[in-house]
Amino acid sequence: MDKIILTADRPTGKLHLGHYVGSLKRRVELQNSGEYKRTMVMVADAQALTDNIENPEKVRQNIIEVALDYLSVGLDPTKSTLFIQSVIPELCELTFYYMDLVTVSRLQRNPTVKSEIKLRNFDASIPVGFLTYPISQTADITAFKATTVPVGEDQLPMLEQAREIVHKFNSVYSEVLVEPKALLPENEACLRLPGTDGKAKMSKSLGNCIYLSDSADEINSKIKTMYTDPLHIQVSDPGHIEGNTVFTYLDAFCRDEHFERYLPDYANLDELKAHYKKGGLGDMKVKKFLNNVVQEELEPIRAKRAEFEKDIPEVYNILKKGSDVAREIAAQTLHEVKDAMKINYFDDVELIKSQAEKYSK
Ligand code: TRP
Repeated sequence: MDKIILTADRPTGKLHLGHYVGSLKRRVELQNSGEYKRTMVMVADAQALTDNIENPEKVRQNIIEVALDYLSVGLDPTKSTLFIQSVIPELCELTFYYMDLVTVSRLQRNPTVKSEIKLRNFDASIPVGFLTYPISQTADITAFKATTVPVGEDQLPMLEQAREIVHKFNSVYSEVLVEPKALLPENEACLRLPGTDGKAKMSKSLGNCIYLSDSADEINSKIKTMYTDPLHIQVSDPGHIEGNTVFTYLDAFCRDEHFERYLPDYANLDELKAHYKKGGLGDMKVKKFLNNVVQEELEPIRAKRAEFEKDIPEVYNILKKGSDVAREIAAQTLHEVKDAMKINYFDDVELIKSQAEKYSK
């Protein structure tokens, strides 16, 4: 079976380091691996509207930000299809049919939906579109027969839901849909990159993000004030690594060669950690090193972004071309789905013939 990647982001803000290590970096590697027949990357504007109905302008303004972030990390429109969700009406149609295969209580039990309802204070007033977004996400995935969905951990319940719907569809109708698999980051630190304040998640609303498009100075000052070990007061104090954001970031980003370049007194991260634990290593020194490592990673991304920012109409053009391609694929799948459901009536010679016979008697 052909291996196909699909993944997406809600355009509610610029993408940050959490997105980068959790999924974006992997997508680029997969795109370049030559192992996949197709890499589809979608700006999920329709999904973003499900919980931003008071602020549609935010979604509209951020489509370009997400697209610029995609291009700047190395998603290449000649290798990947970059497209916009709402431009593909076939996704709505698939969603509508899949809705029959899911119960309301199943949606309410979805852990991601549950915690998002809490977070957004929806409680008794959950928009229907919001509650059903896991179904629409299944449409996104299955429309392209995706086998592989590189996502963060929070999306696992969505993939579970998608597999259930695929299973149900294929057993009620026929084997048309492909069961997708999530692809999580292997590195523990990348799985759940904390915010710069040490909180469990990097999130725009918590104001604890380092954005891919941040300037070198912004990154530097965010790292300077990053949460470390509150018990590590004097340089000579023994320090803790666990829950120490600076070290979590180093786990996510640093490689041995970074030590050669920026901190040659140590051969690798283990040595640095050992010294920190023993005492005698100051936070500022570690932060300075982290700053060098992060700057090295983000500098080329920022430079590439600046190039694409010079021609915004061209970025829209890339999205339009990608959406044309995506639409063709989704239309093909929708056709197969409707065939399986036997609702392509006008193509159904058998149906018309048998009913004609019935009435001619
Ligand atoms: N729910 C995802 C997020 O919030 C975005 C998304 C929409 C997505 N459709 C998808 C992710 C399909 C993977 C596959 O980040």
